[in-house]
Amino acid sequence: MRNLCSAFESLRLPVEPMGYIIGPRFIRYKVKPILDKGSTAQPQAGYVSVDVPRDNNEPLTLGKVWRIGAKNRPQSVVAFPMGMAIDGSIFWADLTDPNMTGILVGGASGSGKSVFLRSAVIGLALNASPENIRITLIDPKRVSFTDLEGLPHLAGSVVMDDDSAIKTLERLIDEMEQRYRRFEENKVQDIGRFNQESNPIPHHVVIIDEYGDLMVHKDKKAYLEKSVQRLGQKGRAAGIHIILATQRPDAKVVTPIIKANLVLKVALKVATASNSSIILDQSGAEYLIGMGDMLIAGNLYLERLQGPLVTGTEIGMAMSGRPDTIP
Ligand SMILES: Nc1ncnc2c1ncn2[C@@H]1O[C@H](COP(=O)(O)OP(=O)(O)OP(=O)(O)O)[C@@H](O)[C@H]1O
Ligand SMILES: [Mg+2]
Repeated sequence: MRNLCSAFESLRLPVEPMGYIIGPRFIRYKVKPILDKGSTAQPQAGYVSVDVPRDNNEPLTLGKVWRIGAKNRPQSVVAFPMGMAIDGSIFWADLTDPNMTGILVGGASGSGKSVFLRSAVIGLALNASPENIRITLIDPKRVSFTDLEGLPHLAGSVVMDDDSAIKTLERLIDEMEQRYRRFEENKVQDIGRFNQESNPIPHHVVIIDEYGDLMVHKDKKAYLEKSVQRLGQKGRAAGIHIILATQRPDAKVVTPIIKANLVLKVALKVATASNSSIILDQSGAEYLIGMGDMLIAGNLYLERLQGPLVTGTEIGMAMSGRPDTIP
């Protein structure tokens, strides 16, 4: 804090310390400009906050995030803890929430996209039993989910090529249409109501790593986009949800259609301010410190979170279907 204050001082912007918060990866210092010395800074909200990375190499594990967040875990079959905010609170994703239907994840290589998706898979699997949730994994890079094969919640083995990915999305859209017909016959609006009144059907979450890599041809790009659009528009009521990640946050991959249909945006560290704008509609993600440091934006949120790392312990618990054993 002393260093920060004297750095401002040396710029002829005298400040007084206002306190600090220690987050999982950085410390947020707050300082208030002192105005009676002819300085040119005009404080608006009253203070300036500066986030300084901590020299802390201890990763935040999914188990720890789960434990801390247990008290505000949503009552939802499709929820998982996305990360820890600077004040230590846990932000939960709930795919039944209209402000989170569909999640778009963007970030540079090595920023933590695959780790984010892996923690989503294991978080979802710890949150609900295999009878209540089915998970489909699509991974054209063939490396992200190999050790998750065998998870009882998976609807099938990991899909790795573009043709199978397209077929998988086609089947999910058929399933969605079928569900709508069943709801209509039963005179209910959505899966929540349906499951209260009839034999419950599972929610289904499709998780795609490196979505951009599936777009090998123009016609496939159009088809994929259309599928994401349909699942984004109508999937939530049918209990079919989509989470996708891309290393290429450029306008060719993250089109307005994709953005409109995946409501919650997650930006991990990106290379440029324009990459950040493509994901979040604002700059900022270019300043993140990497390894799961992220900005999330939705209809109601803009927050900086630290995402958890999944370890063998949490994978083991999800495989055995015993979330209650989280230490
Ligand atoms: N939440 C996290 N906590 C701690 N370390 C992390 C976290 N996320 C990522 N890392 C570290 O960063 C490395 C790269 O992460 P990851 O493989 O998820 O990147 P990526 O964005 O998928 O990269 P690529 O685009 O090359 O596939 C991980 O192996 C891990 O060491
Ligand atoms: Mg990856």
